[in-house]
Amino acid sequence: MADFHIEKTSTPTPADQREALLKDPKFGRVFTDHMVVIRYVEGQGWHDAKVVPRGPLSIDPASTVLHYGQEIFEGLKAYRGKNGDITLFRPGANAARFAASARRLAMAELPEDLFMGAIENLLKVDRDWVPQGSDQSLYLRPFMISNEVFLGVKRANEYLFVLLASPVGAYFSSGCVSVWVSDEYTRAAIGGTGEAKCGGNYASSLVPQQEAAEKGCDQVLFLDARERRYVDEMGGMNVMFVHKDGSVVTPPLSGAILRGITRDSLLKLGRKMGLTMREEPIAIDDVFAGAASGEIVEAFACGTAAVVSPIGSFHRASGDEARFGDGKTAGPVALRLREALSNVQRGEAEDSFHWVHHVTV
Ligand code: PLP
Ligand code: COI
Repeated sequence: MADFHIEKTSTPTPADQREALLKDPKFGRVFTDHMVVIRYVEGQGWHDAKVVPRGPLSIDPASTVLHYGQEIFEGLKAYRGKNGDITLFRPGANAARFAASARRLAMAELPEDLFMGAIENLLKVDRDWVPQGSDQSLYLRPFMISNEVFLGVKRANEYLFVLLASPVGAYFSSGCVSVWVSDEYTRAAIGGTGEAKCGGNYASSLVPQQEAAEKGCDQVLFLDARERRYVDEMGGMNVMFVHKDGSVVTPPLSGAILRGITRDSLLKLGRKMGLTMREEPIAIDDVFAGAASGEIVEAFACGTAAVVSPIGSFHRASGDEARFGDGKTAGPVALRLREALSNVQRGEAEDSFHWVHHVTV
């Protein structure tokens, strides 16, 4: 593992305060005491890897990320098993996607050993922040920004990698999510940056997400940018539908949607459980017609933050509603898949795909 300089905070959160924060951390508001920072300069490569007390970054106002948005991130979780062990779920897949995002945004690629080293070294100092509650985990947020001081538009020659850790509970507060179908806005086009996990994709999702909230919905669903006809994905998660014959279908990786690691894991786990898991284009009109006729009986969102979140209903500007059951109760297939995935992630089921990474620090 690469050498990380470790500088511990002189003012760690007292244990009783940390325990109080871990009781109900919700999502993304509580942070651990430390963070990792690694620098990159063209010609010198990645250097100066360190764990430091969490705090503000100091960057020049002409730093390129503030103007042209060269920023990418990842999201993965550390889990605490019943025996106290800490595990990660498919971290190599996150490292690979982070590198792919870097390539798409013309940024420097962080080697996998540094990505893993950052996580292991942060967990070494902040391991007490990994919660044990049933829906809880330590959400890890690696990100990278360009920070060359220059106003010309070009690939930057300096980058900053940072890793934050945030104890979290469930992403959605309600058991069943309601979803607004955005007919007006799209998230990404083929050839664009939809497959990259870059901040810009999320910036452009905020107006439609706000529209969803105004309509009383929790999330927004995007359609394909060419025809506005096929389901792509949600603002921060992939989507799957369950047919009355029990088969599960999700949109194929078109180049415009994020290659979700949860999506991929559910496809594999579902097949192992004997379910028919299909990757096929899904017309939004068929979702509304299928919900009405009983052809489609469940829908759910999937992602690291969302895990498997059942969708109660879809709504769109025409006033139509696609409701599954009473719109409030999770369907059995979503529940089965969620349990199977969580059991592997938490080390409570056989890891037949070798997805679980044991943290030994
Ligand atoms: N789609 C988007 C837009 C996301 O932000 C996420 C979350 O990371 C996902 C899908 C699901 O990806 P994963 O399962 O790798 O977390
Ligand atoms: C994740 O699931 O890791 C994401 O990045 C999605 C976001 C809603 C937090």
